Amino acid sequence: MKLTDHVTLGRSGLRVSPMCLGTMTFGTAWGWGADQDAAKAQFDAYVDAGGNFVDTADIYTGGQSEELVGGFIADRNLRDRIVLATKFTFNLDKGNPNAGGNGRKLVRRAIEASLKRLRTDHLDLYWLHCWDMVTPVDEVMRTLDDLVRDGKVRHIGFSDVPAWYAARAQTLAEWRGLEPVIALQLEYSLVERGIERELVPASQELGMAITPWSPLAGGFLAGKYPRDGGGEGRLGKHRGSGNPAFDRMTARNYEILDVAQAVAAEVDRPVAQVALAWLLGRPGVTSTIVGARSVEQLQQNLAALEVVLSPEQRARLDEVSSFAPGHPYTFFREPTQQMLYGPARVAKWKPQG
Ligand SMILES: NC(=O)c1ccc[n+]([C@@H]2O[C@H](COP(=O)([O-])OP(=O)(O)OC[C@H]3O[C@@H](n4cnc5c(N)ncnc54)[C@H](OP(=O)(O)O)[C@@H]3O)[C@@H](O)[C@H]2O)c1
Repeated sequence: MKLTDHVTLGRSGLRVSPMCLGTMTFGTAWGWGADQDAAKAQFDAYVDAGGNFVDTADIYTGGQSEELVGGFIADRNLRDRIVLATKFTFNLDKGNPNAGGNGRKLVRRAIEASLKRLRTDHLDLYWLHCWDMVTPVDEVMRTLDDLVRDGKVRHIGFSDVPAWYAARAQTLAEWRGLEPVIALQLEYSLVERGIERELVPASQELGMAITPWSPLAGGFLAGKYPRDGGGEGRLGKHRGSGNPAFDRMTARNYEILDVAQAVAAEVDRPVAQVALAWLLGRPGVTSTIVGARSVEQLQQNLAALEVVLSPEQRARLDEVSSFAPGHPYTFFREPTQQMLYGPARVAKWKPQG
């Protein structure tokens, strides 16, 4: 696979590369990102390799990420070639309750600020960053539909939402003729497969692409954190912080890493590429959002597109990273499904091509 093997994003006509450039590391405000030159080198390397899909958010490095991305695109006059995505929800004006969440007042204000920082008059994809647990879904969908009608946004997506919420929003969009959600952005990697319970099946049923974030679990799956401590990088800086985004050094995760490292030795590739190659082949995954602090890391990650894992290697990775399905999901596999159909298997019709 190559970055130029474009794929439509969910049920839409938007063509994107199978790897998206994540830019949460663009800017130094959070203490573990890339400065302007290192970020520019990443942007250039991605675009020069044929990539067209760039992900940012208003909250990333307090707005620096959007500013850098906007500048890089403008400097090379690439606005029309890039599928530019950003997000709203997080609060950039603490103490103002309407400067965070997903209400109309926030969204209308957030998009103007993002467009300014990104130096553009429209977004190709506008993500709701996280369910805010309070705004009525009809207010969210109406507001996003208005942005599309205003010409400020081409498509909409949801990040970090429960499956029932995405399903409710999509059904509302279908019945009311509102703009549909074309993609879900969710944490997904060998060490975090929780979305397979509900969100992956929902995405496939409802025409929403999965775009995984933190595919290397913040760098853990690059294999650079020894069990007994140490290791340079973002997770090392925040070791023991209690924040789940950084707290990856668990016994279970090291067991998964061990198997990934064994597979890496067999295919003679860095373990990060094995973790990414496994993810690229998972059902529903459309464009994986890769993140890097340096251009070398980014290039190593992009090369995962060339890695082919055998069915046996995939099976070992699936097995070691498997998780208990829990209720009611045990009902949707064997042996319970046998009780519905007898020994015959009933396959669901799938569109071809
Ligand atoms: N929607 C959301 O809620 C959400 C949340 C998080 C991220 N995202 C998106 O997803 C993108 C990717 O997330 P992420 O940055 O967490 O991805 P990740 O791939 O899990 O972690 C990337 C980090 O791992 C380390 N790394 C990457 N490649 C490496 C390599 N080849 N060798 C050694 N270390 C390597 C680097 O950090 P160090 O060098 O510091 O170790 C890099 O910054 C973000 O940029 C953002 O666009 C979205």
